[in-house]
Amino acid sequence: MVKGKRFIYAKAFEGEPNLDNFKLEEFNLPRLENGAVLCEAIFVSVDPYIRAFMNQYPIGTKIIGTQIAKVIDSRNPKYPVSSIICGDFGWQSHTVFVENGGNDIIPLTNFKSVPHSYALSCLGMPGVTAYFGFLEICRPQPGETVVITTAAGAVGCLVGQIAKIKQCKVIGFTGADDKCEWLVKECGFDYAFNYKTCDILQTLKNAAPNGIDCYFDNVGGEISSLIISQMNEFGRVSICGTISSYNTDLNDMPKAPAIQPLIIHKNIKLEGFACFRWNHRRSEAIKTMMKWIKEGKIKYKETITQGFENIPTAFIEMLKGKNIGKAIVKI
Ligand SMILES: NC(=O)c1ccc[n+]([C@@H]2O[C@H](COP(=O)([O-])OP(=O)(O)OC[C@H]3O[C@@H](n4cnc5c(N)ncnc54)[C@H](OP(=O)(O)O)[C@@H]3O)[C@@H](O)[C@H]2O)c1
Repeated sequence: MVKGKRFIYAKAFEGEPNLDNFKLEEFNLPRLENGAVLCEAIFVSVDPYIRAFMNQYPIGTKIIGTQIAKVIDSRNPKYPVSSIICGDFGWQSHTVFVENGGNDIIPLTNFKSVPHSYALSCLGMPGVTAYFGFLEICRPQPGETVVITTAAGAVGCLVGQIAKIKQCKVIGFTGADDKCEWLVKECGFDYAFNYKTCDILQTLKNAAPNGIDCYFDNVGGEISSLIISQMNEFGRVSICGTISSYNTDLNDMPKAPAIQPLIIHKNIKLEGFACFRWNHRRSEAIKTMMKWIKEGKIKYKETITQGFENIPTAFIEMLKGKNIGKAIVKI
């Protein structure tokens, strides 16, 4: 009998996650019945939403997450042995699934000239998030000024490059000087600043003297209020994430300057979104992003950690900002 390995939620998150929150365990895989498929993980994704959502699950639950897997045994002709798929199988080495319409399993038959790991990054959920979250909500126009936070991360670096394709001026904020350098030199951002060391307001006044038209907000909190305070009339804010408070006690959230009067006076639009809103148009985003990548209009990086046992470490380090581009674990 084949045994699998998985990480379970061993202790509730409190503040920054640490290794005690996770426990590695073995489990027996069921025999394959008709229609069933056995696959083995190749790449596992570590994402901020795991920190935000895992608290909703009971202790002992398998950690949630998406992975790329190879089919190693199959009783379903739709998924032949050796085919590569993307599925929400969580942090586990082997999975037996029966397609039931509820599980969202994507065969990666189109990934011939790009790495399979891209299905977890620029050609997966982060790509769809950047594409629709920015284009549909910010509706950028040529010549406008766009600001992005966590600009060197999985989603942020794509938003900035899409904004450049749309002929905008792009300003990114991120937490390390080497990330700033990558954004300007490789990704074509006009400016990138280290929010940990710069004066945000003064920096914005210098880099965007004519104000900001679009803000793609990945962090929330004080920096977002400061950025919104510099927005132009009819500015658009796409609220994608609030990572600055994911490790914060929900009953003791940090305070940020009130921006409501400014939003009223300047007719600013703020809109939050969950990327699943555009699931029905997913292929449109993937096709366009694939084209831009092949044309060299979008550059992408992945920070790849080796080894199944190191998934929790990769997750913890991503939350600390150690990743450039998408944080992924290669099994
Ligand atoms: N709405 C949706 O459907 C959706 C979908 C995907 C992602 N998201 C959200 O989008 C954001 C980015 O996700 P991602 O997958 O692209 O992750 P990511 O940016 O690749 O990685 C997380 C980054 O967050 C930054 N960070 C960590 N703690 C921070 C803090 N206290 N303040 C400011 N920045 C901090 C770090 O970069 P620095 O070095 O820049 O600090 C870290 O590298 C997250 O908020 C995530 O929850 C939302």
